[in-house]
Amino acid sequence: MICPCDWPEPVIRVQSLSETNTTLIPDQYIKPPPDRPTLISSNPSNINIPLIDLEQLNNREQNVREETLQQISDACREWGFFQVINHGLKDELVDGVREIWREFFHESMDVKQKYANSPKTYEGYGSRLGLQKGAILDWSDYYFLHYLPYSIKDHNKWPDTPPSLREIVEEYSKEIVRLGRELLEIFSINLGLRSDYLQNMFGGDDVGACLRVNFYPKCPQPDLTLGLSSHSDPGGLTFLLPDENVNGLQVRRDQQWITVKPARHAIIVNIGDQLEVLSNAIYKSVEHRVIVNQSKERVSLAYFYNPKSDLLISPASELVTPERPSLYPSMTFDDYRLYIRTKGPQGKSQVESLKSQR
Ligand code: OGA
Ligand code: NI
Repeated sequence: MICPCDWPEPVIRVQSLSETNTTLIPDQYIKPPPDRPTLISSNPSNINIPLIDLEQLNNREQNVREETLQQISDACREWGFFQVINHGLKDELVDGVREIWREFFHESMDVKQKYANSPKTYEGYGSRLGLQKGAILDWSDYYFLHYLPYSIKDHNKWPDTPPSLREIVEEYSKEIVRLGRELLEIFSINLGLRSDYLQNMFGGDDVGACLRVNFYPKCPQPDLTLGLSSHSDPGGLTFLLPDENVNGLQVRRDQQWITVKPARHAIIVNIGDQLEVLSNAIYKSVEHRVIVNQSKERVSLAYFYNPKSDLLISPASELVTPERPSLYPSMTFDDYRLYIRTKGPQGKSQVESLKSQR
């Protein structure tokens, strides 16, 4: 497919809309009733995604380490989502990187517009995902940045302001890449594969990594729209740094939407579609969405740790048996992600349709 070079309609910055103090959101953001959030929560408020203390992986007692591996295994199989604490990233770094991006979004529109993105690579300042004209849009703006592969040509998309942004984001990125490697090793062991199996399938040292910073402005009618529509993440695994002050992420669990309550300085981890494929659906990428808030803006950083984009991804042969045949055909991540980039967030429809191609 040839990548289109421009958006199908003039781009509207949701932040600008929000700043007009309008009391009614434009029709373009009003979701059909079944997709609207039920803000009066029907799910018992004590349900949350599993919380895992990564420090226990280094515990001298073998059984504590094994218990932690088991917790991770259960979380991957049963939830597709968990949050980690004691992940090795300093509190100041996780707070610092979120707050420097908040500052960026509070720069003037002229400054931000210098980095306006196009659907060709999505890099830069954007306000929509998908190219369908007349689509119902999400109540958010974002900044999309490629980190790995680390090539010169991508560097022109780093914002120049605030001046310390790049240094802080690079430091954060290095830590996320380290964490990605660590978790892939754990997932490999938990799946009964060689400990370097998944990292190798991701391209070894040539993995991809990119950051999507989400900015969810205040919304006068949060019951009619979503900050981010239901989707599963197309890549390998995602590290989400949520806002300290305001919840918003909801994870689908059976027919319910569970609002995630992050622990302080925790990082949320979730399985993407490529790990669902590689694990032959032993691990599942789980649908999630974001609700918005009338009185508070929200900033989150979604770091996507992905396979090198031109490698063929298919179920690990060790996980394909007569009882559990291969559920997915092989495909490169480059080809795979064109779907979300043209159609926008569409629940789990993509990975499900891949299954039916078998
Ligand atoms: C994403 C995402 C969730 C959030 O960017 O893919 O799911 O809480 N973000 O912003
Ligand atoms: Ni997501």
